[in-house]
Amino acid sequence: MGSKESGTKKMKAVICKKFGSPDVLELVEIEKPQPKNDEVLIRNHGTSINTVDIMHRGGKAMKTAFWGIRQVVGFFLRLSFGGIRKPKQKIPGGGFVGEIVSIGKEVTDWNVGNHVYGYSEKGGVCAEYMTVSASVLAKKPTNLSFQEAAAVPGGATPALLAFKDLATPKKGQKVLIIGASGGIGTFAVQMAKNVYGAEVTGVCGPTNVDMVKEIGADYVIDYTKENYTKNDSIQYDIIFDIASAQNLSKCKNILVSEGTYISNNPISSPKNLFHLMTNNKRFKAGSADESARAMNLIREWIEEGKIKPVIDTVYPLSQTAEAHRHYETGHAKGRVVISIE
Ligand SMILES: NC(=O)c1ccc[n+]([C@@H]2O[C@H](COP(=O)([O-])OP(=O)(O)OC[C@H]3O[C@@H](n4cnc5c(N)ncnc54)[C@H](OP(=O)(O)O)[C@@H]3O)[C@@H](O)[C@H]2O)c1
Repeated sequence: MGSKESGTKKMKAVICKKFGSPDVLELVEIEKPQPKNDEVLIRNHGTSINTVDIMHRGGKAMKTAFWGIRQVVGFFLRLSFGGIRKPKQKIPGGGFVGEIVSIGKEVTDWNVGNHVYGYSEKGGVCAEYMTVSASVLAKKPTNLSFQEAAAVPGGATPALLAFKDLATPKKGQKVLIIGASGGIGTFAVQMAKNVYGAEVTGVCGPTNVDMVKEIGADYVIDYTKENYTKNDSIQYDIIFDIASAQNLSKCKNILVSEGTYISNNPISSPKNLFHLMTNNKRFKAGSADESARAMNLIREWIEEGKIKPVIDTVYPLSQTAEAHRHYETGHAKGRVVISIE
């Protein structure tokens, strides 16, 4: 128990009063939240943008095979944030990093002053202070600044899902990462190479080829210059399609016979949806585990120097709308971070 709170009861937060374009995001001053018995209050120092933040706002970040699927997914996401006509959880954001400033009565594993990071499924992160269940907290990586650590939750976890849970590369196996220069791809390249010892080929646009090489890809393909699905002289053991640029059917010729195609968004194409529904053994997809266990494993790899965040731009909290616009271009070079000082 204890408290390191500043005297003021107010805080700055970004709120989303209705669904719509980034223009609906507003910086306001509201009451600071109070932690429940099993929660902690965090002085939040940063977050980064994920697809789900855009969906929370009512944006259309997720590519879907049919118009109707987007409406159904959007409806369930709205329900998960508790509002059909407008968001009940008005403060967006899931990933966080900060310092614990007070703890609920039942919290025993954490102390005021601890630096933590993680992912809050209930949102409420784009604010100077936030409450979160103590069960999702992990220690912040000691070798990262707050801004750098803010880039990790939601970005590294889908890569962890792909390579730890869905198809683990054996040393020397060939892995193709489509969308290697984005928020998830930059973690995926480093994880496949430095954690699992794979031979990594990254696919990205022309302006990011050098960066993807620098973070460890053995080979880089510029998708504007080469249709790699037609080049069956190279076959991959695992293809991780983060950009939803392909589908399993198009990749069959460049996948070894026992190989796996991982889709980061299986509802993106009718063919991938078909492979998912027919339980095709070579097709894998899932939902990232954002638990403390996952965040702790990622922290260990960061502290061992195996992976590090690549940051495109850091925006202040007051420019959250701009950060959303930037992410929505679909061409961020690594992660789009919001710093909350
Ligand atoms: N399964 C899960 O649990 C989970 C969790 C979170 C997100 N997701 C999914 O992940 C996706 C977003 O990933 P992200 O945050 O990494 O996105 P991002 O940061 O916007 O990156 C997208 C990347 O795609 C590349 N790209 C665009 N067009 C391409 C093409 N035709 N071929 C190859 N690459 C292309 C871009 O590269 P250039 O800029 O170099 O062109 C960019 O690097 C969404 O579909 C989301 O639904 C899934």
